[in-house]
Amino acid sequence: MTLSTINVHHFRNIDYAKLALSPHFNFIVGDNGSGKTSLLEAIYMLGHGRAFRHAQSNRIIQHEQPELVLFSEIKNTNQQVHSIGLSKSRNNENKIKIDGDEGFRLADLAKLLPIQLVTPEGFDLLSGGPKYRRAFTDWGCFHHHPEFVQLWNNLKRLFKQRNALLKQAHSYKQLLPWDKEIAPLAEKISQIRADYLQHIFPQIIQTCRDFLPEYQLNCQYYQGWDHGINYSEQLQKQYDRDKLLNYTTLGPHKADIKLRIDNIPVEDLLSRGQLKLMMCALRLSQGEYYSKQNSQSCIYLIDDFASELDHNKRDLLAKRLKLANSQVFITAVNQDQITHMIDENDKIFHIKSGIIS
Ligand SMILES: Nc1ncnc2c1ncn2[C@@H]1O[C@H](COP(=O)(O)OP(=O)(O)OP(=O)(O)O)[C@@H](O)[C@H]1O
Ligand SMILES: [Mg+2]
Repeated sequence: MTLSTINVHHFRNIDYAKLALSPHFNFIVGDNGSGKTSLLEAIYMLGHGRAFRHAQSNRIIQHEQPELVLFSEIKNTNQQVHSIGLSKSRNNENKIKIDGDEGFRLADLAKLLPIQLVTPEGFDLLSGGPKYRRAFTDWGCFHHHPEFVQLWNNLKRLFKQRNALLKQAHSYKQLLPWDKEIAPLAEKISQIRADYLQHIFPQIIQTCRDFLPEYQLNCQYYQGWDHGINYSEQLQKQYDRDKLLNYTTLGPHKADIKLRIDNIPVEDLLSRGQLKLMMCALRLSQGEYYSKQNSQSCIYLIDDFASELDHNKRDLLAKRLKLANSQVFITAVNQDQITHMIDENDKIFHIKSGIIS
């Protein structure tokens, strides 16, 4: 999947931009505050309905404007063309158009536009809480298992009801009808996640070996409760604690991926640059697996490509991105940082105070 064009209206400091894009590498070069990350956010928003730095539309819509509008033509590997449009108002209302028709949901955009994002904020994937690694896992589950989102929404609704019931319950018996519905759903979700991760862990480990040959990464999936015990037993076992806290303490909503080297969590061991490479390894492995399974490639957004990386590591990452044979957007404050990566089919955009040339 590639974007052939993008139109951006009233998005942060970009008043209006209409760009014809390269299906290969697109470099966005400009000074601090020129609008580079904003352009990446606009692309990300087309595939997610929200920006990655702020969820609130008020922060993203250009000051003094009532709404932002994004429009793009996308092409898949069969050369089929779709037009997608998204507008967002100050009260967070989305209007989505696909091929001129309205009434689509954000999930429809997300299916059409699989995006992998690498940003300075993205270190959360390694050093933030489990929710970031669950989001990573669930991105894959969403794209590879069509039923996943519905199952997950059903489970969230049941957990909400269970947690409300915990406040009133006098004995575990009262929760049983809920737990009978919850347990198989939770097991199913956990199985989908385990299946997906089992496929990408070897790829992540191999990519880490390519990027950081001095380390041997170990990846483990934690399903959110003890392995070896089924979830209905677990729910019963944790009842007293759940009752005390009015909250279902263990379950798929607590799942995580444990990333360790020599039994030390990677965020406690690695340097910033090494963590950045590790983050890229995770994103690239996920994107490459997606491409293999769907014969469609992901779009990669790499904000501030050069930061934290020495020359060799920049080269390594650039070569790997070229091999991914995907559309890539890379920002840099200085053209020198990216000159060695530019091929004849790539495009460079210069941006100054929101104006792109
Ligand atoms: N809602 C908004 N309306 C208008 N301008 C905004 C809005 N939100 C942010 N800006 C401005 O947009 C500018 C561009 O920010 P952006 O983060 O895209 O810059 P950048 O080129 O990525 O800079 P850096 O190199 O420092 O990362 C900022 O100077 C900011 O003041
Ligand atoms: Mg920036």
